[in-house]
Amino acid sequence: MNILVVGAGGQIGTELIPHLQSLYGEDNVIAADLKKESVDKLGAISRSITLDALDINSYRDAIVNYKIDRIYNLVALLSATGEKNPKLAWDINMGALLNSLELAKEFNCSVFTPSSIGAFGHSTPHDNTPQDTIMRPNTIYGVCKVSGELLSDYYYSRFGVDTRSVRFPGIISNGALPGGGTTDYAVEVFYEILQKGEYTSPIPENTYMDMLYMPDALIACTKLMDCDPSKLIHRNSFNVTAMSFSPKELFDAIKKRVPNAIFKYEIDPVKEAISASWPNSLDDSCAREEWGWNPKWNLENMVDDMLNAISKKI
Ligand code: SER
Repeated sequence: MNILVVGAGGQIGTELIPHLQSLYGEDNVIAADLKKESVDKLGAISRSITLDALDINSYRDAIVNYKIDRIYNLVALLSATGEKNPKLAWDINMGALLNSLELAKEFNCSVFTPSSIGAFGHSTPHDNTPQDTIMRPNTIYGVCKVSGELLSDYYYSRFGVDTRSVRFPGIISNGALPGGGTTDYAVEVFYEILQKGEYTSPIPENTYMDMLYMPDALIACTKLMDCDPSKLIHRNSFNVTAMSFSPKELFDAIKKRVPNAIFKYEIDPVKEAISASWPNSLDDSCAREEWGWNPKWNLENMVDDMLNAISKKI
């Protein structure tokens, strides 16, 4: 199987590439990104190309040239960045998705496009948020995610395109940094504490959001795509989570291991409003039942691993 990852230079892509290579073979994974510097970095570990996913002709050429069977469409502006330029967020997030779906239809590819907890909003039940529930987000990012879920389901039911995806919560990782998300604080804090001994949180101390550690997120990306489709009742998109915590709980867990760490709060009103509209905790039982989702990382072992990995890195 030949796999194309578009938007490969971001937080998920840079770690998904080696994960895919280990499962499907080094030469079968093509990393594509718009930015030349990302492509150069990815080039050190994989076959990589510069690609603007909004340009359907070059996107098509890549699919033809590399005989692509599966697309991971990771192109997206995240929630906080999206609010700075909503029209641009819509154009990029939906444009890349529509091109991915059209080309998947044309060349019979399967497609994975992450959805997010951002697809939920104020009127969604916030505790143990069900798989099928009210979805009226109030960010452009969330509007794109709900639209993306519907469009992906539509391409499956109308054209038989094999679309599958998950609603990612915040993803914590020690490779490439996330950029412009509301959950980014849970990554930033590790770098700031280890480099400066101090972190100022933009998110209020008692705001709960779901999170995943990257190794579990990578398994979600491949396990769902490789599962027996006859077991799938849902397709786009499955709730997945491994932990739910507030900034205070995360900072307490870090302080247990780094006793001198200092935490402050300077609330960012945009991020505050977004985080308040998102679930406190997701019910991911459909993912568990339909394709065997079973995350391994929790708050305690994640914090140990992050501190260890980032200490080495810096
Ligand atoms: N991590 C994303 C964000 O905060 C949520 O999907 O925007």
